[in-house]
Amino acid sequence: MKAVVYEGPRQVSTKDVPDAKIERPTDVLVRVTTTNICGSDLHMYEGRTSFEVGRTFGHENMGEVIEVGSGVEKVRVGDRVVLPFNISCGFCKNCERGLTNYCLTTQPEPSFAGAAYGFADMGPYGGGQAELLRVPFGDHNALRLGEDAEEKENDYVMLSDIFPTGYHATEMAGVVPGDSVVIAGAGPVGLMAALSAMIKGAAKVMVVDRHPDRLALAEQIGAIAIDDSKVDPVQAVLDETMGLGADRGCECVGYQAHDPQGNEDTAATLNMLINAVRFTGGIGTVGVFVPQDPGAKDDLAKQGKAAIDFGTHWFKGQTMGTGQAPVKRYNRQLRDLIAAGKATPSWIVSHEISLDQAADAYKNFDARSKGWTKVLIKPGMSTEKKGN
Ligand SMILES: NC(=O)c1ccc[n+]([C@@H]2O[C@H](COP(=O)([O-])OP(=O)(O)OC[C@H]3O[C@@H](n4cnc5c(N)ncnc54)[C@H](O)[C@@H]3O)[C@@H](O)[C@H]2O)c1
Ligand SMILES: [Zn+2]
Ligand SMILES: [Zn+2]
Repeated sequence: MKAVVYEGPRQVSTKDVPDAKIERPTDVLVRVTTTNICGSDLHMYEGRTSFEVGRTFGHENMGEVIEVGSGVEKVRVGDRVVLPFNISCGFCKNCERGLTNYCLTTQPEPSFAGAAYGFADMGPYGGGQAELLRVPFGDHNALRLGEDAEEKENDYVMLSDIFPTGYHATEMAGVVPGDSVVIAGAGPVGLMAALSAMIKGAAKVMVVDRHPDRLALAEQIGAIAIDDSKVDPVQAVLDETMGLGADRGCECVGYQAHDPQGNEDTAATLNMLINAVRFTGGIGTVGVFVPQDPGAKDDLAKQGKAAIDFGTHWFKGQTMGTGQAPVKRYNRQLRDLIAAGKATPSWIVSHEISLDQAADAYKNFDARSKGWTKVLIKPGMSTEKKGN
């Protein structure tokens, strides 16, 4: 089968690899119909993780079931399914508590928890930027879709990661109706956090970034855009909240946060939020941070440390939640919002491409080139259908 393979920092190629296949009775085999490129892929693409050369990318996957193992009870051949990026068992100590983001069964390294398709440090699983995908514990992991699966494919594929992840950021931050919310990052995840805050009835949603095209998408759903290349984002949030600060904050950037000129500062977004969120407010951090970052510029960051304003955070009595999102906790509910026409997460899609166009798409998405907000790979497509 064809797949998008990591060849080293800033190098990917589309090439033939062995077909994904059923390996265990509980597996399901999916013909991938849509698979997205994510900001998480970029950390790996840039060589800023331990992702191994030769592995296949792709953790935001959707497709049609073409084969089921002998132990599969529910999922059937022909079902249209979307797969949470987390691969989980459903029966371990963490899964039983709904923490499928920290499954103990599917992560082979005993001192780690959590697994994902095509992801550094998250098990050996093949990615879905390919024609076929093996889904372990298929009954547990596959979310089945209704008759509108193909018609709303670009909405439903967002259930694999970024829509539930954005929602999780608002959950950890504690967003309730009437809240004011500040979001760091207008990438796909930040935009989904903004959409989620709107769905939850936030009174005011503010999104901080410096890319006008991304900020414009935030404005399209009624958020206030704050361009931090033009204004001090903390002051802008204080001005919008009578000097009190926002009720809630969402971190949707991660450890490669940088200033508008490109200088990296791991603590930049955390400190912006600590200072822009009010006393007793909550912060949900879904942007990825790592225990070690040998590629970082400064010594602190190399050791996975961030110089955060902990004194201010403590003084203000704020809370902060962190970590990978437990996609299964939300994907069914969010699917039903999409089905009912009450959420349209595909509004951020900028490009639909074939597998062969992946190298060029990675380059542009990594450069945050103008207009490249969210790339959907359609393995069944041979020529470009849409693009800027
Ligand atoms: N926790 C999870 O389960 C989970 C799931 C998916 C993605 N993620 C992570 O979420 C993060 C965002 O993903 P994405 O796909 O939106 O990525 P992205 O890289 O496309 O978007 C990040 C955005 O942040 C902006 N930014 C950078 N520094 C900033 C700063 N100091 N202030 C404000 N904005 C700043 C960039 O301009 C960019 O638009 C990544 O770290 C990704 O790995 C986490
Ligand atoms: Zn992702
Ligand atoms: Zn488990």
